[in-house]
Amino acid sequence: MKNIYVLGNWKANKTLQEAVDWEKKFKENLGDLPNYVTLIICPAYHHLSYFLYSKPPYMLGVQDISAYPSGAYTGELSGAMLEGMVTYAMIGHSERRKYFGETDEIVSQKVTQARSAHIKPIVCVSEETQVTSLNKFIPDFANDGLLLYEPLFAIGSGQADTPENANAVAKKLSAILPVPILYGGSVVPENVRGFIDQEFLAGVGVGGASLDPQKFINLITAART
Ligand code: PGA
Repeated sequence: MKNIYVLGNWKANKTLQEAVDWEKKFKENLGDLPNYVTLIICPAYHHLSYFLYSKPPYMLGVQDISAYPSGAYTGELSGAMLEGMVTYAMIGHSERRKYFGETDEIVSQKVTQARSAHIKPIVCVSEETQVTSLNKFIPDFANDGLLLYEPLFAIGSGQADTPENANAVAKKLSAILPVPILYGGSVVPENVRGFIDQEFLAGVGVGGASLDPQKFINLITAART
């Protein structure tokens, strides 16, 4: 069985109480995770302290990280503030690029900031050029960074890409940046296995289907068997 990643991205969802309820149900019903599965949950910032103290059976990540170091940057969370709290930081999700004007340059700055805080970057891309622009960061990436390929049409639409298309894109991306590549976009328990089975895909990124604990467990179960 190959090593696989399952990443849950909650986006801007859940009150603190809803996160507490999710976590309780999830922990009760998840069972033991085999060591070939790396499970990463990226809740929102205000959930993080709770998750840390509940000692979750998975890695924690953030959905974003500041492009700047600690200092006079109102509203930002710097790498230094997050160091030791999370293992991963998602960077450059297409929603951040679309609604918050994140450019490839900002994405690259965020990779540098994550790195300086020993946080592993998960760079999200929807096209090849976004990876090419990261080329100069290969030394930063090569250790333990991840790429999350998410075609725009598939995000939140219920219309996932085909596993074969996603695999073909992942093959190209891995030739540019040799890191594990995840597919994201309308991944659900019913289609996850098709993506996991692809040669150039190392896992999946999951938005909507990670919000319900039982649905997410079903997805993880389908991915790992
Ligand atoms: P979705 O989101 O699973 O709801 O399509 C994926 C993502 O944007 O990470």
